[in-house]
Amino acid sequence: MGSSSGLAESRRKFLRYIALSPALASPVLMGGSLRKALSLDLAGAPPERSDSASESIASAKQALDVMEFEAVARKKLPPGHFAYLASGVDDDATVRLNHEAYQHIEIRSRRLIDVEKFDSSVELFGTRWETPVFLCPVSSMKAFDPEGEVAVARAAAKQHHLQMLSTVASSSIEEVTAAREAPVWQQLYPTNDWAVSRALIKRAEGAGSPALVFTVDHQENANNETIARGRRVDTRDCSLCHAGGFAGYLRRKPMFKGMDISKVTELYDPSFTWDFVKRLKDTTTMKLVLKGIVTHEDAEIAVEHGVDGIVISNHGGRAEDTLRPTIECLPEVVAAVKGKIPVLVDGGVRRGTDVFKALALGATAVGVGRPQAWGLAAFGQSGVEAVLVILRRELEKIMRQAGTPSIRNITRASVAL
Ligand code: FNR
Repeated sequence: MGSSSGLAESRRKFLRYIALSPALASPVLMGGSLRKALSLDLAGAPPERSDSASESIASAKQALDVMEFEAVARKKLPPGHFAYLASGVDDDATVRLNHEAYQHIEIRSRRLIDVEKFDSSVELFGTRWETPVFLCPVSSMKAFDPEGEVAVARAAAKQHHLQMLSTVASSSIEEVTAAREAPVWQQLYPTNDWAVSRALIKRAEGAGSPALVFTVDHQENANNETIARGRRVDTRDCSLCHAGGFAGYLRRKPMFKGMDISKVTELYDPSFTWDFVKRLKDTTTMKLVLKGIVTHEDAEIAVEHGVDGIVISNHGGRAEDTLRPTIECLPEVVAAVKGKIPVLVDGGVRRGTDVFKALALGATAVGVGRPQAWGLAAFGQSGVEAVLVILRRELEKIMRQAGTPSIRNITRASVAL
């Protein structure tokens, strides 16, 4: 026993030594194998809380952290819908790693700094937000609660958060804007028919959306095995809501209402190139944000094409199982854009400390996908609100603890990798 724990300690020290070695300090190199080695090293970490303790919370107010909403959502949702929310692709490994990667970043707290006056606001395209946490676009939210995106919008309004709306949301941008009492950012799946892309863009402009978020990381037919397994055990008659194949699916999506969608066969055309980004820039007055960039090469091309912002994202691990967490992509993308445009990041963010770490590595704002849906599925609007309140409380706690009274005080020196 004694000798194996001694071995574990030596291994830990060795990996830590490698992690701190200047030769490996490059953000590109500080990735895959080292992180995986460190991950193995953490295999002896304490087990997670048991689901049954979390399942038993009876109201949003009882939740101690955002993960508790996942347990309630799992219990309340039909298996097919929970699987839709949880799924990644193949083995869901990127979903897990997105979150786990935050465990390998440590916070360097500073002492004896006045943190009495406090400001966690950030600015994006001239608008000041009280918090850097934004709500990612999540499709079909009525699968989690009858009020869907409208309940999310009311929560976002109450807690003053930026909300992005999916093209394939189950509520229209006009309804959501009314509930948010302010414009939302419209996410774009352009489809393979330019007439429809254009109509979607003009509809978002008409609703006052200041930014168009073009998602570039999701081709059709991802291998979402967890979804397929969830459907296998779902005994309900799903044809009542899912009839008509892809065409039926699109017809049920409010954003396409009134449009001729007869030529649409895909949400994302596999023949898209950077020329399409130029076409979007030439078509809209909204800010153009690319969601799904994960490399410095693409970040540089995006800046060259006049893109106004980037969301580093791997679609919450739902597009391809790369095993590369988004937080690891952040340093190289930030270095590539050289402060010219804002860099947002999402994927695996579950704690205020995760938000803090992403900000320290150069993110302008930090998004949550599944946590808002867990909150929604568990307790409707109040669940989403509670998720946002908890994340904000946790962020503010660590900002105070770490001696960083405002977001601009959170710098690369605030973390150790
Ligand atoms: C998504 N995401 C997503 N992204 C997008 O650009 N358009 C969309 O319609 C959707 N739909 C969607 C549905 C569901 C059920 C999930 C879980 C995710 C991806 C989302 O915007 C975001 O990138 C990730 O969810 C972030 O990772 P976490 O926070 O879920 O780990």
